[in-house]
Amino acid sequence: MIALACDHTGLAMKKEIASLLDEMGLAWKDYGTYTEESCDYPVYGSRAARAVVSGECDRGILICGTGVGIGIAASKVKGTRVCTCSDVYTATLSKRHNNSNILTMGARVLGPDLAKMIARAWLEEPFEGGRHQRRIDQIAAIERGEEL
Ligand code: RB5
Repeated sequence: MIALACDHTGLAMKKEIASLLDEMGLAWKDYGTYTEESCDYPVYGSRAARAVVSGECDRGILICGTGVGIGIAASKVKGTRVCTCSDVYTATLSKRHNNSNILTMGARVLGPDLAKMIARAWLEEPFEGGRHQRRIDQIAAIERGEEL
């Protein structure tokens, strides 16, 4: 289950990503916003991020104008590993090495085709584990306030 969310700038791109998920046979849940009325991205970013961390969803794809604001908001929810991406390589490696569980993109930065390529690559890429799991465990320790 993929959590989707956006602010008013990302509505059209969120619909493109939902179509991609349909094509890929992946279920999704939309945490808003649902209209083009100006809104605040932290509201929707945090709702989707909580859904991912709670296990209600497996991963999330969030969209605002740049991908940055909604990414910062989502990253404040403990347990998220957020990747703000504008290219396929970074998205792929963020999954392979960092096991990112939330991808954010900018609707004012990317065209729909590139956004879909990035999302597909991110969704299809497996996590490599091994030494990368150790580093992710270290990130989780930082989140708990531990010193490394
Ligand atoms: C909204 O104007 C814009 O600030 C927002 O979509 C996002 O780009 C913030 O990071």
